[in-house]
Amino acid sequence: MKNQGFPGHVFDGRPIIGICNTWSELTPCNSGLRVLAEAVKRGVWEAGGFPVEFPVSSLGETQMKPTAMLFRNMLSIDVEECIRAYGMDGVVLLGGCDKTTPGQLMGAASVDLPTIVVSAGPMLNGKWRGGDIGSGTDVWRFSEDVRAGQMSVREFLSAESGMSRSAGVCMTMGTASTMASLVESMGLSLPTNAALPAVDARRTALAHMTGRRIVEMVEEELTLSKVLKRSNFENAILANAAIGGSTNAVVHLLALAGRMEVPLELNDFEIGSEVPLLVNCMPSGKYLMEDFCYAGGVPALLREISDLLRPAGTVLGGDISDYWADSECFNREVIHEFGRPLKPAAGIRVLRGSLAPDGAIIKPSAANPALLHHEGTACVFEDIEEMRARIDDPNLQVTPDSILVLKGCGPRGYPGMPEVGNMPIPKRLAEQGVRDMVRISDARMSGTAFGTVVLHVSPESEAGGPLSLVRNGDIVRLDAAAGRLDLLVPDAQLAERRENWKPRLPDYGRGYARLYIDHVLQADKGADLDFLVGKDTRPVRRESH
Ligand code: FES
Repeated sequence: MKNQGFPGHVFDGRPIIGICNTWSELTPCNSGLRVLAEAVKRGVWEAGGFPVEFPVSSLGETQMKPTAMLFRNMLSIDVEECIRAYGMDGVVLLGGCDKTTPGQLMGAASVDLPTIVVSAGPMLNGKWRGGDIGSGTDVWRFSEDVRAGQMSVREFLSAESGMSRSAGVCMTMGTASTMASLVESMGLSLPTNAALPAVDARRTALAHMTGRRIVEMVEEELTLSKVLKRSNFENAILANAAIGGSTNAVVHLLALAGRMEVPLELNDFEIGSEVPLLVNCMPSGKYLMEDFCYAGGVPALLREISDLLRPAGTVLGGDISDYWADSECFNREVIHEFGRPLKPAAGIRVLRGSLAPDGAIIKPSAANPALLHHEGTACVFEDIEEMRARIDDPNLQVTPDSILVLKGCGPRGYPGMPEVGNMPIPKRLAEQGVRDMVRISDARMSGTAFGTVVLHVSPESEAGGPLSLVRNGDIVRLDAAAGRLDLLVPDAQLAERRENWKPRLPDYGRGYARLYIDHVLQADKGADLDFLVGKDTRPVRRESH
């Protein structure tokens, strides 16, 4: 360590603070993390600790193929083993892009040191032609407009440039900002961490203060498991409903709870189903994270739902009420009062029924209310390749009332469970002005996407769930209010189809994908690898030096 120029006196037994960094040029969302790492170090030195920054895998949503989610569990292994193997006293997690935050937290949870998060922060609001545009959400809209011939590719690319004009994560309430908001709501970061823009000097100051705090946490032996209990997860579910957060939060919170050995099940997400939507951010609303920040951010939101929140610990050593006690809302257009919500009962709904015996989810706040109770004939795609090949076929047997069904995109069927659940509207219908249809799959959906989209159907089709048996023309019924998703086909007919059903999984042969397929749990269990659930806090044994 001395070859890095550290003077001898710093090896005096002071707390070693790992700064676990997911910076990478391949993850543009996390491009500001180097600056933040330096600020954390300043705080650690100031408080009498010894900061050591180390890299782990960086998962960039926009670039990784087949999907960054395939590697969330791999990142968690990387984080867990680095923390354990190098030996440190506390750790600061620097994440941002969607899967980096849960992947880092899952790994850290399995070691259970004092742990605190600093998020990359959102990009500045997108600006184009005199108005605000949001990353992700408007891309989906614009791409539908391009498909319908209402926008040129040149205009599309111009909008893309205006959308991406600073460091930071997607500035909509996509998965990255959702996870940052939930981390703050669970008391795992300092207050205001989620919404401060990436390039705001106050974020750098927050990183500095986090460096100071982690040294104190080591002295207080305030490990992750002393902070993070079931009540923190319940608060995260409540907050996720009020912010109109990403459906991806479901698999991430379930997986994290599994690592923490905290009992949490898919049905527990129902505690958020009656919570109203209060934050007016895309994709459920119209503003962006910068607006949310200036309106008061997560502390102001927590104040609005404070009657629902459970007492819960935080990295500051107190109760979550400390986070909102002094907060104020400065813009009621952006953060609505609890009594005057943007939408009522907006939390993620858990669906069950003959098509999803182990559950599925839908995000009503991002759906067309008229479609939340709908019965229609299935237009089925056996896998993503077939969907892409046929969706724009002018002869596709589909009407606006049809239900699009996509198979083969669950954790095993398309390793990583890609964000393809919001299938495009068939071109013929898009040209007629149709912008939403009921869509059902075992896939996930981007946190920036919207529509009446049923996701995470479990068991997935590749595991032989009833989804694998759906055929063109079958009647499917969605009743979100009743929490039902049913395939209206007689049992005898389904039994006959099951006799002839075979898995379709291609041979992945070797490598991480092989390991993933052999061990991944279903979505209702968080899609973690079965052998990673739980934690191991024993000291490293059989040291070689
Ligand atoms: Fe990285 Fe949206 S693509 S945060």
